[in-house]
Amino acid sequence: MILIRNMKNILALMAVSALLCTCRMEKPAVTESTLSVEESIYGYIANEPVRQFRLKNASGMEVKIISYGATITDIIVPDRNGKPGNVVLGFDSLAGYLLPENPYFGSTIGRYANRIAKARFTLNGKIFTLDANNNGNMLHGGFKGFDKVIWNAEMQSDSSVKFSYVSPDGEGGFPGNLNVQVIFSLSSANELRMDFTAATDSPTHVNLTGHSYFNLSAGEEATILNHELRLFADSYTPVNELLIPTGEIRSARNTPFDFTSLKPVGADIEKVPGGYDHNFVLNRNDDKLQPAAELIHRSSGRGLRIFTTQPGIQFYSGNFLDGTLTGRNGIKYPKYAGLCLEPQHFPDSPNQPSFPSTLLNPGQTYRQTILYQFFTQ
Ligand code: BGC
Repeated sequence: MILIRNMKNILALMAVSALLCTCRMEKPAVTESTLSVEESIYGYIANEPVRQFRLKNASGMEVKIISYGATITDIIVPDRNGKPGNVVLGFDSLAGYLLPENPYFGSTIGRYANRIAKARFTLNGKIFTLDANNNGNMLHGGFKGFDKVIWNAEMQSDSSVKFSYVSPDGEGGFPGNLNVQVIFSLSSANELRMDFTAATDSPTHVNLTGHSYFNLSAGEEATILNHELRLFADSYTPVNELLIPTGEIRSARNTPFDFTSLKPVGADIEKVPGGYDHNFVLNRNDDKLQPAAELIHRSSGRGLRIFTTQPGIQFYSGNFLDGTLTGRNGIKYPKYAGLCLEPQHFPDSPNQPSFPSTLLNPGQTYRQTILYQFFTQ
C-alpha cells in the first residue's frame, strides 16, 4: 500500500488552476508540490509490520527511513552531473538490518551513543548496572538499543516523518521511563534534518545520535580513504585500548587528528592504530546549530556538511568492517567502506565529571538537532 501525502496539495493546486483557467481562459499549469512522503510496508518482525517512508524533493534527493531502529536505509543525492547515487551503506532488505552483525547501519542510537565504561554509573548515590555488550563496557545502549526496536511512526507533513518510542524504566539498565521522538525532515535544498527530543520521569542519562555510514562516491570507490574531511574541532578525547576516553581533552593540531582544514581521510590513518574511532570536541561556545564537519568526494563532486547542536562528533572510519558483511547489491563491505560522523555528547560522560553533562531530569526536555546538507561542486 502506498499513501501519497501530497495528493491533497496536488488536488488543491489543480482546483486553483482550474479556477484561474475559467477566469483567464488560459491553459492551466498544474504544478506539483515539490516535496513528498510515501509510506509502504518494508517487512515484518513476528507479524509486526516495519514501515518505510520515502521522502523526496524536486532537487533529486531521496531518503528512505524504516521504523525498525528509526533507520536511514538510503540517501540518494545527485553528483555534479546530476547522476543520482546512494551515499550510505546499507542492506537490500529487512533481513540484513536484523543480522546480529549489522554494525548499526543508518540507525538511530540510544539511550546512550558510544561507550559507558564498565557498563555502570552512579547517580544520586545509586549504582546503575547497564548491559555490558562491548568488552565489559556498554556500547550504543546495550543488547537491545533504540536501533533494535520498532518505533511508532507518523507523517508530519509533505516533508517530514515523526518516529517515537517509549523506553521503559530499566531498559538496558537505565533508570526512568524515557519518551523519545525523532523528526526527520527533508528540505528542497537537499538537507536532511533530525530533531531529537526526550523526556524522563526519573533522573537518567541520554545521548542520542544517527549512525549513517557515508561513502559519497555511491559505490564508485570501495573505501572512503580519498574523501576529504574537515572537522570543526581543535581537540579530541584520547581513548584507552577499549576505546574509553581517558578524560583528557587533547589538542589535535599538527597531529594525525588534525582535520581543522580539509584533508584526505587516508592521509594519516596508518599513524592511528586501528583507524579513527574518536570523539572530537567541537569548537563552540553555545548550543546553537553550528557546522561540525565537511566531507568532500572530489571525483563525483558530492559534498556533505553536517551541522549540530551537540558538543562533540564521533569520527569512525569504518575500521571494523572486514569484507565479511554483504551489503546492498551483494557488495561485500571492506574495511573503510564507509565512515560515520556522529554528533553526540562525549563517550562515557556519566563517569567523566569534566565532560559536558548528559543528565536529564524530570521536567526537562532533551533537545538536539543534526542536519546533513548535501551539495555538489
Ligand atoms: C563506534 C565504534 C563501533 C561502531 C559500531 C561507532 O559509533 O565509535 O567503536 O564499533 O560504532 O558499528
